[in-house]
Amino acid sequence: MNDRFLRACRGEKVDRPPIWIMRQAGRYLPEYRAIRKEMDFVTLCKTPEKAAEVTIQPIDRLGVDAAILFSDILVPVEPMGFKISFNPGPVLDHAVRTMQDVDNIRITEPEETVPYVYEAIRILRRELEGRVPLIGFAAAPFTLATYMVEGQGSKNFSKVKGLMFSEPATAHALLEKITVATEKYLMGQIKAGAQAVQLFDSWAGLLSAEDFREFAMPYARRILDTLQDAGVPRIYFALNNAHLLEEIKDCGAEVVGMDWRMDLAEANRRLGGRYALQGNLDPTVLLSGSPDTIRERALKVVAAGRGLPGHIFNLGHGILPETPVEHAQALVQAVQEAVR
Ligand code: CP3
Repeated sequence: MNDRFLRACRGEKVDRPPIWIMRQAGRYLPEYRAIRKEMDFVTLCKTPEKAAEVTIQPIDRLGVDAAILFSDILVPVEPMGFKISFNPGPVLDHAVRTMQDVDNIRITEPEETVPYVYEAIRILRRELEGRVPLIGFAAAPFTLATYMVEGQGSKNFSKVKGLMFSEPATAHALLEKITVATEKYLMGQIKAGAQAVQLFDSWAGLLSAEDFREFAMPYARRILDTLQDAGVPRIYFALNNAHLLEEIKDCGAEVVGMDWRMDLAEANRRLGGRYALQGNLDPTVLLSGSPDTIRERALKVVAAGRGLPGHIFNLGHGILPETPVEHAQALVQAVQEAVR
């Protein structure tokens, strides 16, 4: 099997850095758009054979070194008692604002309430036949809480922050429940066959270091600790984390994801030289750069990765839907040809 990705996560020697791309199955691929013509996004997430098919599309098309389950961070929120739709971002049928709302949230057995997630993983392990490892994922509690309190995406996150600052006990009770639900959800993914997990803390970068220390890191850390004995590499990714690296230093993952804003060597130093890093090409370079520019910028990231305890090449955030497929192909080829 191509285990370059798993080896790099563990800081073992690899011939070249592995590469995968956040949101690698998605709208930039014509074969994804063809399937989305037949069914909406939520139906796709709930149809294991189709979810597995789109998960494999970027492996076939680009030759990346890992697959990531096709799903969404909002999928496990439905059994907690919410109806979810996408327009194109997630919209919930109601928002959490009071302790009563938190009490109403259900903790279920995810194998029973979201069986399609686990079925997709089992199908994928069979269909991938060891070509590349499969990554499972979930949102970190603070990031999921933002959607549950705002009721949708947000620009300034005033409602979730408002809850934290005016009713901290309610905010903590919510984060606590999400943490328990997420531990079960991810343990189930590993049991079903996920070979690594990524915790997405997409919105934690909105917080000051002090608030991150109180409302985000402890809950993410608890999940990462709970997964430790499962023996699969754990990736913690927070966008906009430059002011948070001293807080993330003890996160308990094997890999820390970095966006494009910070130099990888500086991040490594501030993280205590303990983590393999994942990242960090600007997704806009991939969108708008010429193939030559993409190659040149990619090789700079590869070079920066040489000084790290481990390096997994990725974008600094998800691939943009308008990105030409040939750009993604040029990127993967450039990394494949780079010798570590
Ligand atoms: O990385 C992958 O390829 C795996 C699949 C995946 C999706 N979403 C598919 C998706 C993963 C890991 C996610 C995580 C996710 N979802 C995050 C964390 C990562 C990040 O981007 O910071 C967040 C914040 C969400 C919430 C979400 N889902 C938003 C804001 C949107 C709309 C934005 C957009 O791109 O339109 C979605 C929808 C979504 N999730 C799509 C896909 C492929 C687009 C669905 C479609 O229209 O076909």
